[in-house]
Amino acid sequence: TILYGVFGDPIRHSRSPIMLNRAFQEADINAVYAAFHVRPDELGDAVRGIRALGYRGINVTIPHKVEVMQYLDVIDEGARVVGAVNTIVNEDGKLIGYNTDGIGYVRSLKEETGIDLLGKNVLVLGAGGAARGVAYALAKEGAGCIYIANRTKERALELADTISAFTKTIGLGLDEISNVVDEVAFVLNTTSAGMHPHTDELPMPVELLREHHLVSDLIYNPRITRFLREAETLGARIHGGLGMFIYQGAYAFEYWTGKPAPVAAMRQVVEQSLA
Ligand code: ATR
Repeated sequence: TILYGVFGDPIRHSRSPIMLNRAFQEADINAVYAAFHVRPDELGDAVRGIRALGYRGINVTIPHKVEVMQYLDVIDEGARVVGAVNTIVNEDGKLIGYNTDGIGYVRSLKEETGIDLLGKNVLVLGAGGAARGVAYALAKEGAGCIYIANRTKERALELADTISAFTKTIGLGLDEISNVVDEVAFVLNTTSAGMHPHTDELPMPVELLREHHLVSDLIYNPRITRFLREAETLGARIHGGLGMFIYQGAYAFEYWTGKPAPVAAMRQVVEQSLA
């Protein structure tokens, strides 16, 4: 039996075990994926446990994605730029860290909406950890100009500076969105505004949205945020955050096994668990 798991704190509500165990079953791989409650002061021991017990792969979730990097042997370029790891591959005792969140998001966006990002201008709301991964993946996908707007403008400028190594990127304050929103094809919320229990909050004034926008939100609890609901009422196309969770797991599965992830089965079991 090949061993896999996820480290987090809290971890009880993680859907990763049902999703990945379903994936292994569908792909006929004899493997078990378990959830481990790892507190911050136990993280180093837990990573040593990966080697000691011969775990083939581990997902890392909140609050360990940054701290875990110091315990790994190799960090993939994407994870290094983003500054966070969510997937560890154990190659015969050598632990390699990847970040599949941003690329998982972009794969979900493309599969679920059909959008071609090449040359498209993009507005990213927020400049936290989630924004970093997604902005990097959007840049690698050939997006035109990436505008990053954040409540704390300084963080937007910092992130824009990092991402501008990959494509033209401009940082803004939230109050400057109206200057750029008409030239973007795609608006993405990465902030926690709208996330349970703050379901009434909006990340930007929705009056600025137009019918031609594709509007997306990383939040998947609730499945459709107030932001998406109001965007849809204005005639915009919308895209929710559940696919990001599914495809970050799909990439992890593929890095670990070298086989294509059974995405439909993974999605089905996750949707069933949220119903
Ligand atoms: P994550 O890793 O999920 O991105 P984070 O690093 O704490 O979490 O970042 C949260 C993001 O949501 C930040 O961009 C934050 O803005 P600030 O940098 O100004 O704090 C943004 N955010 C949180 N609540 C918000 C709100 N009510 N309105 C607008 N932005 C909000």
